[in-house]
Amino acid sequence: MREATLSVFRGDKDTGEFKTYKVPIEEGMVVLDAIHYIQAHEDPELAVRWNCKAAKCGSCSAEVNGRPSLMCKTRMDHFADGEEIRVEPLHTFPVIKDLVTDVSWNYEVNKRIPGFTPAPDADWTFYQEDIERVQEFRKCIECFLCQDVCHVLRDHDRKDAFFGPRFLVRTAGLEMHPMDTLNRAEFIKDQEGIGFCNITKCCSEVCPEEIHITDNAIIPLKERVVDEFYDPVMMIWNKIFGKKKQLV
Ligand code: SF4
Ligand code: SF4
Ligand code: FES
Repeated sequence: MREATLSVFRGDKDTGEFKTYKVPIEEGMVVLDAIHYIQAHEDPELAVRWNCKAAKCGSCSAEVNGRPSLMCKTRMDHFADGEEIRVEPLHTFPVIKDLVTDVSWNYEVNKRIPGFTPAPDADWTFYQEDIERVQEFRKCIECFLCQDVCHVLRDHDRKDAFFGPRFLVRTAGLEMHPMDTLNRAEFIKDQEGIGFCNITKCCSEVCPEEIHITDNAIIPLKERVVDEFYDPVMMIWNKIFGKKKQLV
């Protein structure tokens, strides 16, 4: 039987090391299956977070050979025979144990985003074509792979100043919602720190839901901020006629 070699991080925030395991490969196996094999046969104390095993709950996020990935979506036949498969926790968030990280910062950030605000007298009739643009953003499974790869959070640790791509996606979904009435331009600029994003598109590349994070969410939000705060014609227009919520 063919065998794979996995090098898996074991430890906590203070100490840790990679341990090597041999796992028999079966047809259709994914990296999460290999981790479960290790738990069942070699190391029952190996900690891993997962729920659906169907790429829908966003909880099995890890770094596989350096790439932020869902372990349940990463097939073992993706790797060459004999290639060592390195599995480690997300780098951007503190390790709790082994492959499990503390992603609670993301939920705290999420609470600060002004929520969906329809007009009090809203006419609730709207159609599929009204909602098509924001539907893409609702596919997010909160795996935080985009947060993990973003260099502003990962390399510069600017969690104090930048909400990260996942929350720019959520904000874009609210701002572009046809029934929402809030203008979040100032919030996007000052609180979410959108100016830190330099549109490298790394976040879009790792998104398992293939959300076009940069093109469809971040760039339109950046344009909105520029229109409101740096375009002299729009600034005069806003002064005379008031700020309009419009994202096209
Ligand atoms: S495009 Fe922006 S949000 Fe996405 S990874 Fe790059 S800097 Fe981060
Ligand atoms: S936008 Fe994509 S990568 Fe980011 S949390 Fe949502 S599903 Fe994951
Ligand atoms: S276990 Fe749910 S996304 Fe992998």
